[in-house]
Amino acid sequence: MKLYQPLCLRNLELKNRWVMSPMCMYAATDGVANDFHFVHYASRAMGGVGLVIVEATGVVPEGRITHKCLGLWNEEQANSLKKIVDFVHQNSDSKIGIQLAHAGRKASTWNGVQLSDSEGWTTVAPSRIPYQSGEKMPQQLTIEEIKNLVSYFKNAAVLALDAGFDVVEIHAAHGYLLHQFLSPLSNTRQDDYGGSFENRIRFLLEIIDAVNEVLDDFHPLFVRISGTEYAENGWSLEDSVELSQILKSKNVDLVDVSSGGNIHGARISLFDGYQVPFASEIRKKTGVKTGAVGLIKTAEQAEEILVNDDADLIFVAREILRNPYIASQIAQQNGENCYFPKEYSRAILKK
Ligand SMILES: Cc1cc2nc3c(=O)[nH]c(=O)nc-3n(C[C@H](O)[C@H](O)[C@H](O)COP(=O)(O)O)c2cc1C
Repeated sequence: MKLYQPLCLRNLELKNRWVMSPMCMYAATDGVANDFHFVHYASRAMGGVGLVIVEATGVVPEGRITHKCLGLWNEEQANSLKKIVDFVHQNSDSKIGIQLAHAGRKASTWNGVQLSDSEGWTTVAPSRIPYQSGEKMPQQLTIEEIKNLVSYFKNAAVLALDAGFDVVEIHAAHGYLLHQFLSPLSNTRQDDYGGSFENRIRFLLEIIDAVNEVLDDFHPLFVRISGTEYAENGWSLEDSVELSQILKSKNVDLVDVSSGGNIHGARISLFDGYQVPFASEIRKKTGVKTGAVGLIKTAEQAEEILVNDDADLIFVAREILRNPYIASQIAQQNGENCYFPKEYSRAILKK
């Protein structure tokens, strides 16, 4: 099966095409990972996926979606993640990446609801436009603050490499800060970071350049985007194709294609593999490698996506919460090679 063919990105080899999609667990204290995170990520690596991507991790405190999100701006946080990374490297065939993020106007929430003044913090955004009516007005980032955030993304990438991560993914999807800059509906700035397409993508590109200064030939860079935001005059699939072409020229190894999240109440029709056509279009038009994600639940679906050349990697989120062993289980059922802990060898399924 193509699912079990390796993939090389820069000089990093992923053993198979299964990726544990980044998923916020809202279980950290002061941005520091704990035993829950250790078991959570280690289990999926032991389950055989080619790559684990650690959840959206704030590059600054106010960039976290909630006060319980992971962070990566200090050594304590890096050390807590290093414990997970070291285990994954020593006890599985998986590689491990981290998604670096800033939530912008969607920060300071709990269960999707904005925190009160006493519990939360002031959010920032490209423009003074809240995500939904009734929410507090975000502060408009100054140019100096934008430049500082570029350095914080770079700083987080340095810490990620120190912790031993193999891959860095920049979160530019789901209506978080970088997506807010991309979209003309959330970015109405009139300076170098707003207005034209070229200006709206500038912040993301500066982050890509800064992070790429840190990464070498063994550490690929992914960017997660929303292929479309399902809104008239908003960020579209054509924009995503144009952006992906530029990302490819900027040494981004893979575009991880999700959708939505920036426009409250946008109508999205959900069906199995509903975002695959976006990954496919971007891949076909630009030649950049893509990741497909969203309601991919079975090996048949995943294999078909790969065989059709719609995407290069299969990101699974909810299904891998249900079944951490999805990759090795399907491999054993189909006579494919996939890591399974030697300690568990008596449980290998015989075909
Ligand atoms: C609990 C949970 C947390 C999530 N957190 C993140 C996140 O941190 N970063 C991100 O890009 N997407 C996040 N997502 C979206 C998933 O990565 C994935 O794109 C989405 O769930 C669709 O895939 P699925 O149908 O396989 O679940 C999250 C999804 C879930 C269910």
